[in-house]
Amino acid sequence: MSKKRLSKLDAPKMLIEDEEVMDEHDFIVSKTDTKGFITYCNKIFIDMCQYSEDELIGANHNLIRHPDMPKIAFKLLWNLIQQKQEFFGFVKNLRKDGGYYWVYANITASLDINENIIGYYSVRRKPSRKGLQQIIPVYQQLLEAEKRGGMKASEEVLNSFLKSNDTSYFELVTALQDME
Ligand SMILES: Cc1cc2nc3c(=O)[nH]c(=O)nc-3n(C[C@H](O)[C@H](O)[C@H](O)COP(=O)(O)O)c2cc1C
Repeated sequence: MSKKRLSKLDAPKMLIEDEEVMDEHDFIVSKTDTKGFITYCNKIFIDMCQYSEDELIGANHNLIRHPDMPKIAFKLLWNLIQQKQEFFGFVKNLRKDGGYYWVYANITASLDINENIIGYYSVRRKPSRKGLQQIIPVYQQLLEAEKRGGMKASEEVLNSFLKSNDTSYFELVTALQDME
């Protein structure tokens, strides 16, 4: 019998207000195939999300998707990495017990010798606390727009936020992570 692939459908429905904060010098690492199914995770990943290595390998990465994350963030992520560009961003992740942890993530495509995408690779570190304080209300606005008018409405809110701050998504997140 083949192994069941866990996904967000298997994630906890009861959320708890319990945040696990990353250690200063830790890195959370995972690799996926081209569809986003996990092929590798390091021990810190396992400890933070509370799933076992056996549960994680083969699982859809959306297993740890937190419902507070706006869809537009993942659209941006996939658009960039499929074009072999780097994604940087603040991501709230859902633990197996319903708690959560925030990361500052970098995701890139892994290429073969002919530059074909063979999978994706992500390294996360502790997010800037001040940066998080800025991004959390922005994510809330994006999520509200999404509930009101879907992804299109949320994209409009994001674009007008970036425009009114005279910045790009990349400039915004890198500046927020640089905040002390
Ligand atoms: C290498 C890699 C790492 C990812 N890491 C995360 C992650 O830590 N948390 C997360 O919610 N999504 C992560 N994603 C995005 C998921 O694949 C997925 O797009 C997201 O969870 C939204 O899933 P959904 O569209 O099925 O709701 C990652 C994707 C890749 C390719």
